[in-house]
Amino acid sequence: MQIRLDKYLADMGIGTRSQVKQYIRKKQVFVNGNFPKGPEQKVGEEDIISFQGKEISYQKYEYYLFYKPQGCVSAVTDQHHKTVLDYFPENRRKGLFPVGRLDIDTEGFLLITNDGGLAHNLLAPGKHVPKTYFAKVSGRVTEEEVQKFAKGVDIGEKGLTLPAKLNLLSVEEELSQVELTITEGKFHQVKRMFQAVGKEVLYLKRISMGGLGLDESLMPGEYRAITEEELQKITKQWMMET
Ligand code: URA
Repeated sequence: MQIRLDKYLADMGIGTRSQVKQYIRKKQVFVNGNFPKGPEQKVGEEDIISFQGKEISYQKYEYYLFYKPQGCVSAVTDQHHKTVLDYFPENRRKGLFPVGRLDIDTEGFLLITNDGGLAHNLLAPGKHVPKTYFAKVSGRVTEEEVQKFAKGVDIGEKGLTLPAKLNLLSVEEELSQVELTITEGKFHQVKRMFQAVGKEVLYLKRISMGGLGLDESLMPGEYRAITEEELQKITKQWMMET
């Protein structure tokens, strides 16, 4: 597939269409070692393009590990709230969407991509991709509740939830800190599982999904591209299930 050089550069997040035209004019862009004829020059996958001395390679799909902050919604557009895409530069947002949802008051690991196939596989109920949450929960979470979660609890859906692994990190009279791993993604699932045992989730953070953890170096609202190795790791998760 051949596309205009200015579109290629803009798609790669180098700048807006008008910015990249300027870069081309200022001779900061090379195509196969030569100055391009102009922004309209057609380029394709076989071409080697460089910008300011660095080679860039065209990727159809983009994958970002995003640290969702509280207060934004896991959507592409919203009339009332900030969305997760508002944390990405405008020229990067095209086609991107979050893989699944975290509640507005939940923070943590969220994959952002333009790869519908990956999203479908990660979210498909049959794939059982594990998601681990750190939670602060009202009251004393007990060993009995650990056993209950392991067997599945009734959250008002058909049947029980799938077995979930509950780890008690600290337990006090007023507040418990726990880690919970679930392999499905029912609406408000973690909050409803604790409700089912008479407890309330006061704080919720997703710390991993599909074997990938939240990057400690990211602050809430920051993102980074995921590496090839990480992509393979997450892809393996559902290949094992099929
Ligand atoms: N479970 C919840 O209750 N909320 C989330 O945001 C994610 C899982």
